[in-house]
Amino acid sequence: MASFLFIVFIFANALPTLAQIVHQHDFIVQASRVTRLCKTQNIVTVNGQYPGPTLEINNGDTLVVKVTNRAKYNVTIHWHGIRQMRTAWSDGPEFITQCPIRPGTSYTYRFTVEGQEGTLWWHAHSSWLRATVYGALIIHPKQGTSYPFAKPNRETPLILGEWWNANPIDVVREATRTGAAPNVSDAFTINGQPGDFYNCSSKDTIVVPINSGETNMLRVINAAMNQQLFFTVANHKLVVVGADASYLKPFTTNVIMLGPGQTTDVLITADQTSARYHIAASAYQSAQGAPFDNTTTTAILQYNTSSCSSKQKCVSTKPVEANLPKFNDTRIATKFTTTLRSPRKAPVPTDIDENLFITAGLGLNKCPSGSNASKSCQGPNGTRFTASMNNVSFILPSKVSLLQAFDQGIGGVYTTDFPPNPPLKFDYTGNVSRSLWQPISGTKAYKLKYGARVQVVLQGTNIFTAENHPIHLHGYDFYIVAEGFGNFNPNTDTAKFNLIDPPMRNTASLPVGGWVVIRFVADNPGTWIMHCHLDAHITWGLAMVFVVENGIGESQKLEPPPADLPVC
Ligand code: C2O
Repeated sequence: MASFLFIVFIFANALPTLAQIVHQHDFIVQASRVTRLCKTQNIVTVNGQYPGPTLEINNGDTLVVKVTNRAKYNVTIHWHGIRQMRTAWSDGPEFITQCPIRPGTSYTYRFTVEGQEGTLWWHAHSSWLRATVYGALIIHPKQGTSYPFAKPNRETPLILGEWWNANPIDVVREATRTGAAPNVSDAFTINGQPGDFYNCSSKDTIVVPINSGETNMLRVINAAMNQQLFFTVANHKLVVVGADASYLKPFTTNVIMLGPGQTTDVLITADQTSARYHIAASAYQSAQGAPFDNTTTTAILQYNTSSCSSKQKCVSTKPVEANLPKFNDTRIATKFTTTLRSPRKAPVPTDIDENLFITAGLGLNKCPSGSNASKSCQGPNGTRFTASMNNVSFILPSKVSLLQAFDQGIGGVYTTDFPPNPPLKFDYTGNVSRSLWQPISGTKAYKLKYGARVQVVLQGTNIFTAENHPIHLHGYDFYIVAEGFGNFNPNTDTAKFNLIDPPMRNTASLPVGGWVVIRFVADNPGTWIMHCHLDAHITWGLAMVFVVENGIGESQKLEPPPADLPVC
């Protein structure tokens, strides 16, 4: 694969030289044959790799990735968690910041990483292609700087994925046709492999080597489509040092929880007897009674010894099994998310200009008249599943992207009447009246002035069922100042806000039947989608868009669109 490093020296007024490192990559999106769980099928990959290529850069570097679509589906690539300051054109969500890259065409993403260090990832942002089109994006410390902790001896990206013994595009199409929930997956994977507990898989289980006494930084990414996951390593403590490419105040735990979209960097030290230990992940499933994939994926942490230096020589040694929480252990999930802290006092926005209260949850649409109920209304009691924020189920445009509409002032593509509060107050986490189960639909955005200090209270609902939602905001990192259960109460819950050292993330875990409060400054112009990162839910419309206006200064404006921007 072509990968070049260009070093451009810019001489400015005889000042010291400034080196800009540019990494150039080619992504070929194509069909590839792979075998998993005893079955060979065609999947869409990047450069024939599953998972796709790992990109490694330093904070401050520029990435240029030319994506050529040789698959039969429309595609886009999203750089999950990259701020994309003024470069919203390179963010990637289909019909939000660009039209899709049609089969046979290409588009080049260009962006510079500023102030982010740790682990992010990239994935397709079109239909359900991200099930197989994803990879790690590692951001090392800025040139000449180091980690805020002792440099680990090794670093290993571990991407947790979700596998169907079917084409994921068929899975979502079937769900959209029937109105029912999509089929649950057949396996979870670590770096593309299901591991020891699945049919036809154990000989390909991923092995992570380690020497006694060494420290390894595991860069754990949840790339699953529809499932929050617990992650653990048998007999080893995890020292959490970062999440979503922001450092954290280090703390020790046995298990971490990641919603789809989230990353967590943990240090492990090889302080146990030389042996093989399971690295394992399984579902954190908060929705009661809903079907889910209850399998466990594993990799192997293998101590290097003279008798056990290669995978082959060790297959006879059974790995020490890992202890994962029960699938519904919300207490452990909550313990993890509420322990995260920024390493030091953080510049949390105060004097809030925009205070939004946004409900997030499922819904059920009545069977549309004239439709064949037996075929197209297979949701609960002859309905169709839907989902919404503040009672609006989000619809993607199809003729032009929201960003083009914003940039060129094209009317009729979206409206800016997304409600900053629920249209009707109710007991969100109680027994919600059936009359409130059906949202309206629309392409509604909320407008923010450049520089606005924004607070969003995200409130889960108990419509049909309550569950944990991983809420992801594009183009921004935000502080998570508080979370809790039940209905958010400004009179009592505001006192619980951590305005000192809250964690910074790009994806917040909205607790099951609860709320989470995030804050950010709207300093990046463009159209930014905020959505549930469970793909079943975004498919049903659990999303909204912030339109952040340009500021006055040149450095406060969206850059002009690239010449090769795809047209719809
Ligand atoms: Cu990781 Cu909108 O996506």
